[in-house]
Amino acid sequence: KKHGRVVIVANRTPAAKSAGGLASGLLDALRRERSLWFGWNGELREDDGNCVQLFSCDRLTVAAIPLSPEAHNRYYNGFANGVLWPAFHHRLDLMRFSDDDYTGYLEVNRHMAAQLRPLLQDDDLIWVHDYHLLPFAGMCRRQGIRQRMGFFLHIPFPVPSVAQAIPRIDELLDEMCAYDLLGFQTEDDRKAFVNLCRERRPQIRVPNTGGYPIGVDPLALQAEAEAEPVVQLWPRDRSIRGIISVDRLDYTKGLPERFKAYALLLEQHPELHGTMQLVQIAPPSRTDVPAYVDLHHELTGLAGEILGKYGDLEWQPLVYVERQLDRPVLMPLYRQARVGLVTPLRDGMNLVAKEFVAAQDPADPGVLVLSRFAGAACQLDGALLVNPHDPGEMAQAMLQALSMPHAERVARYRRMWAVLCASDIEGWRVRYLKDLEALAATEETLA
Ligand code: G6P
Repeated sequence: KKHGRVVIVANRTPAAKSAGGLASGLLDALRRERSLWFGWNGELREDDGNCVQLFSCDRLTVAAIPLSPEAHNRYYNGFANGVLWPAFHHRLDLMRFSDDDYTGYLEVNRHMAAQLRPLLQDDDLIWVHDYHLLPFAGMCRRQGIRQRMGFFLHIPFPVPSVAQAIPRIDELLDEMCAYDLLGFQTEDDRKAFVNLCRERRPQIRVPNTGGYPIGVDPLALQAEAEAEPVVQLWPRDRSIRGIISVDRLDYTKGLPERFKAYALLLEQHPELHGTMQLVQIAPPSRTDVPAYVDLHHELTGLAGEILGKYGDLEWQPLVYVERQLDRPVLMPLYRQARVGLVTPLRDGMNLVAKEFVAAQDPADPGVLVLSRFAGAACQLDGALLVNPHDPGEMAQAMLQALSMPHAERVARYRRMWAVLCASDIEGWRVRYLKDLEALAATEETLA
């Protein structure tokens, strides 16, 4: 091994957890070797410029800084989640751009680079994560940070015709090209980025790019799922077949579309009433961004309609929980379900799909219904793939999943289990870092 520490830079640190976010398999690996994780500590308070908090967990050191409420609002709510998140998920209608937010976004990136600088060692390998930090490398280079630096985008990259609608996109592309390696979830995302650079920035040198589909730790998840369930959701005799969905309360996840498809299934198949139940877990997310508040209202409305129309004293067709559950609670729930519904309108990878498969009982597995527009659809060929915009197709897939014969369930499960093992989180980390290490560090100095 030629390099020293791996330095992870991400908006969130393991100390400030949220729903979703970076896979914990990565954390396990980092704890085994000398490494540093740098990011926001989750606190909103004035930064006197010298507030790096350090703490250690085995061989991993976490260095975290607070952000002022104003800076955080512009950077996180304003530009990252008000412009980049919707646009990268092809929702230009939800994009809310302001110059102030953009300046704040750049400012926080510059500030974070400055705070990281004194913590670095010459042979560090820096690995930056996600859309909050697109210009981070550019900021570092201008401050004289020369260490090799890679980036991984956890969310999709928009096709050029959509990406060009993002204000300041050319500037952002230039900044991204200051990385030594750019990693994407799928080959489509990678191509979209390269094509956009060719179109908008023909003069610029595009760094190395690669597709690195993120994975899970299937054996660890399987063990968690085998544990005695904290909650038994449905009768063990399967007299009620469980359908489970778990998503951050986010408009990219296709939640209203899913509820409408489920309502259609209830309408078309009265014989199913009393025999199945959809449990939707939807932890609140980014609640200071207006589009997320609207979604909450829309969903509680739809849930109420379904319950009002089909619910009875003996049977509720739907359970809707806006709360975050820990993985040790969730994994046994996945295993109790007959069907896992993962139907985002657009998603970088979607680890819930992989977690659901990992949690299944190999002798009696449930069925995954998966959106074609999740990155995971490129890999999980044993799932029933659906178009989340087509309620009829989704209702049909739910029906097929609920009644799938045992032999077919097992065959599909086995194919997907093999994929989870062949493309796990450890392989993802090792492959990315090996590629980053193999590259010659960029010599150019950005003005
Ligand atoms: C997605 C993003 C992550 C983010 C997570 C949770 O998975 O790719 O970067 O951490 O959502 O969202 P939050 O805004 O709470 O960090």
